Amino acid sequence: MSDKNPTPPPTAKQDSQIEKSQQHLNEAKTDLDDAQKVLDKTNAKKSEIEKEIEKLKRQLDDKFVQILEKSEIKTEDILETKEDDDGLSFNRSVTIKAPINIAFLKYWGKRDVNLNLPLNSSLSATLDPNILCSETTVETSRYLLRDEISINGEEFVPVNPKSRIGTILKELRYMARREHGRVKIDEKSVDENGKEVTKISFSENRLPMSFFSQKLRVKSHNNFPTAAGMASSASGMAALTYAIAHLYNLTANYKEKVAKLSTIARQGSGSAVRSMLGGFVEWQKGEDPEGTDSIAVPFEQFHHWPDLRFLICVAGEEKKKVSSTAAMIKSQKTSTLLEHRTGKVCDLIMTHMKKAIKSRNFPMLGELIMRDSNQLHAICQDTFPPINYLNETSRKIIDMVHRYNGQTAKKCLAYSFDAGPNAVLITTQEHLDDICTLVKKHFAADDVDDEDFFHENSMPFYTGNPIELEGDKDKKPFEGIKGGVKYCIVTQIGSGPVVTFDAFEVVDTREGNKTEEKTT
Ligand code: DP6
Repeated sequence: MSDKNPTPPPTAKQDSQIEKSQQHLNEAKTDLDDAQKVLDKTNAKKSEIEKEIEKLKRQLDDKFVQILEKSEIKTEDILETKEDDDGLSFNRSVTIKAPINIAFLKYWGKRDVNLNLPLNSSLSATLDPNILCSETTVETSRYLLRDEISINGEEFVPVNPKSRIGTILKELRYMARREHGRVKIDEKSVDENGKEVTKISFSENRLPMSFFSQKLRVKSHNNFPTAAGMASSASGMAALTYAIAHLYNLTANYKEKVAKLSTIARQGSGSAVRSMLGGFVEWQKGEDPEGTDSIAVPFEQFHHWPDLRFLICVAGEEKKKVSSTAAMIKSQKTSTLLEHRTGKVCDLIMTHMKKAIKSRNFPMLGELIMRDSNQLHAICQDTFPPINYLNETSRKIIDMVHRYNGQTAKKCLAYSFDAGPNAVLITTQEHLDDICTLVKKHFAADDVDDEDFFHENSMPFYTGNPIELEGDKDKKPFEGIKGGVKYCIVTQIGSGPVVTFDAFEVVDTREGNKTEEKTT
């Protein structure tokens, strides 16, 4: 149908007006872009200045404490309530459990090897510390002659101050001295002689400075295979950091302190940053060359997704052949795929993973987790010479998961592998029993009972009739590797480190008498 009143074409005058308006619009857009650029620059400058101020504040604080430490004056002497702690022994014993964490988006590569500053931000789930943990006891008393440590029941050995553990001890002592000796310079006022004075006060909940000079005895053990790619360094270093921090009263107001404490745990092992918190945790890579912003940040609490389950399939307990540190350095030197990952892929995965976690979208999260794990091991293959963490059993498990997801069309199962052959299968409570059954059928040795195959601390389970997994084109059913998985641990998301014991007493060593006792 033709239009009865067609719009007349614009006149030449209207044309020129439209053109002029277009020009004005373009100019306005350019002005807006310029203004935005200026604003961005100003904001960047502002955050630089704020960082600089923070740094100066810290330096000032440090300087003051250093001066106090070097001077003849004891911190206590400056206090109004002078304490004479000479001859007193402050005995404290703290035991804590710190969890392992499973990285969904993995950390691989370091921008600073000494400080363990990562090339990429990573994201993980912290697992229940009551099932898998490093348990660490730290004791202190005036009578200890050296800092010493025993790991997994081995003999006590002196802590090498230059080792990663030595660094954690040094950093925590330093933080404790600063926190407890923290000087608050109150406003200036005028005294009775008309002289300007500055009032100095100290933080509350103060422990005597001599407490932080007492030596430490550390005893730590893991209830799972050490160094077989099961995040033992993460929970171990987080446990050490948290236990000493608690001993030094640094865990009160934990929300405020965790960023700083995670920078200390990081110097023990990168992935330990994420074990300092429960639930879903992001380790932000940060930009600062000193790593002050390379910290743990909570993403979601552990109760956000309560029915998420983890089935850890222990496929080998021997120590890994190449440590993560050495492997990362080799990958950085030789793998071009790693460059691609850190430059392009990680940020994208992070954005999508966060969405999947927020909306509890398992199929989406599962696929991202598997892709990330596969990429890590592809980088290990791209490293020259290649590094192989996976074994035959690991590869069969990968195959099993894809067949299961394809056959059930539910996409309710995912796998993840760190620097070792052990698989972490991730699913939800609804599918857990089926999956336990499947793993046992295809990967347990024939003569193993359920009680021996599933770890004693694991959550309750039953094993019913597994679905028959189809095999290859020849229609032979899927076959795993009998005895490939030694045992399984079923676990869930959990809280961060927990204190299980804390006793504190003050002993008068001059008399040999106990003068005060406080046990919590
Ligand atoms: C594959 O934290 O063990 O588990 O910082 O050198 O101690 P260091 O490395 P580490 O590396 C863990 C690597 C990973 C991935 C991850 O947990 O993010």
